[in-house]
Amino acid sequence: MEAFTRVTGRAAPLLRPNVDTEVMIRVDRIISTPREELGRWLFEPWRYEEDGSEAPGFELNMPRFRDARILVAGENFGCGSSREGAVWALAGYGIRAVIAPSFGDIFESNCFQNGIVPVRLAKEEVETIGRELDDGTEMTVDLEECAITTPAGRRVPFAVAPERRDALLAGLDEIGMTLRLDGEIRAYQSSELRARPWLRPVRARLVAIGGDGVGPEVMEQTLRIAEWFSERRGLAIEVREELWGPAAWAAHGILMRDETWRAITDADAVLFGATAYGSRDYRDVPEKVDWLLEIRRRLDLFTNLRPVRPFASLLANSTLKPEVLEGADIMVVRELTGGVYFSTPRGIERGPDGTRQAVNTVRYSDAQIARIARAAFELARERRGRVHSVDKAVVLEVGNLWREVVGEVHAAEYPDVELVHMLVDNCAMQLVRAPTQFDVIVTENLFGDILSDCAAMVAGSLGMLPSAALGPVREDGRRHALYEPIHGSAPDIAGQGIVNPLGSILSFALCLRHSLGAPAEAELLERAVERAVAGGAYTRDIAPPGVAPVSTTAMGDAVLGELE
Ligand code: IPM
Ligand code: MG
Repeated sequence: MEAFTRVTGRAAPLLRPNVDTEVMIRVDRIISTPREELGRWLFEPWRYEEDGSEAPGFELNMPRFRDARILVAGENFGCGSSREGAVWALAGYGIRAVIAPSFGDIFESNCFQNGIVPVRLAKEEVETIGRELDDGTEMTVDLEECAITTPAGRRVPFAVAPERRDALLAGLDEIGMTLRLDGEIRAYQSSELRARPWLRPVRARLVAIGGDGVGPEVMEQTLRIAEWFSERRGLAIEVREELWGPAAWAAHGILMRDETWRAITDADAVLFGATAYGSRDYRDVPEKVDWLLEIRRRLDLFTNLRPVRPFASLLANSTLKPEVLEGADIMVVRELTGGVYFSTPRGIERGPDGTRQAVNTVRYSDAQIARIARAAFELARERRGRVHSVDKAVVLEVGNLWREVVGEVHAAEYPDVELVHMLVDNCAMQLVRAPTQFDVIVTENLFGDILSDCAAMVAGSLGMLPSAALGPVREDGRRHALYEPIHGSAPDIAGQGIVNPLGSILSFALCLRHSLGAPAEAELLERAVERAVAGGAYTRDIAPPGVAPVSTTAMGDAVLGELE
């Protein structure tokens, strides 16, 4: 749209009331004529005779007023239908301003949208200007000054809504004006969504990767559950399935296609089954990239949540005594993108004499420690208010810095939370000795890997445990996330239809809670899983002695049955 600051030019009178948009342009002309050529048909019934010749009595046909840029019009100019074509015809003719005592509402707003200034003046003033046109036709409409200069040289101010004026001066229509505020609008939206996550219409795009070993089997059941929530709870979940590992290699000749990677980065969350990278399954895959670690690193999934809770009906299942387990409820918060998994230098070096040395490095910055500590303290506030920070201080520099930084974050930001520092060896022992002492455990990557497997005995089976890997909250309030059971690919039982899908299904519950903004649905699913197990559905790994185990699919059926 053309910007408008000031127009000086010929003015023409059209001082009749109620000039209808229908007179400005006929509907059939709008349909049959390109927009730029509509000016030719402006005021058609008045401007032309039946035979197509010009009507000599019509103002705009008079030599003095021909090709006017400004119209001086009567009351209620532009009444009638809301057709925007009327304004296009005026603009096409060359009109840049209309002065009138009043306008049709929609016509007036169409003027602003199309670069024409509608100037409202008192009726007497408009009539005076009309009379001045007898002596001279030159006028100025100045939008910057909000004033016109009449043919007689008088300066007459006019009022216009400031936002309308700004838009015309900038040459923007309403959409253009709105887009100018895009940054501010987005910032507002994301702060609102952060403060009130339930405002987000829950509509999610998920990427599902079954992966290796038992992964595809547990994923199949998980996707049945996701479909149930999509259909029955209106969550509108879209799932895109992608191949992984040797299967991806066989199909595409590459472990991670660009389009798979794009789907992963665009997704609201990734549901992951298991990887067997490094195992015999990969012997024919020449590409040496551990893509699970690569996803964690590239998406910066630094917060790994591993909740551990015994199922009442499985207390007898653990190798630990039921009275030790009763009431345990632990959230392991494992740092997932730092430490020995990712630090450099690393590698295997060969000395001149042929001997080999392997090197790994554990490196943590204070910022890495502080952000995972915050994640843990935040969770503790919503739980029982206690954090155990686990390290190997004294022996390791990393442990010393870890302890120091966690202590600083605690003192400065979370003094209301109880903080206990614990050495990792002691923590391993305490987990099996007295697990109920723990609420949130926060620790570095490798310790978290080990301790969470250890804590799994508190739940009775590794097969039951879910996990969430979360990235930092981004500008738009969203965060990258990957959900996976912690049991791994279990090659010994893969393909037999006997694996326990509950770790994966419970990971989807975490996805409902942390990525889909659906905490009520997450709870519904967790309760359904609990009831399915309490109702006697046991896969082999959790079946009490003498009880016939159910298949992977039957376990999925049992959970769906409970959901119903
Ligand atoms: C886990 C697994 C992974 C890890 C493996 C598969 C790389 O053990 O998620 O706990 O060590 O992080
Ligand atoms: Mg592990």
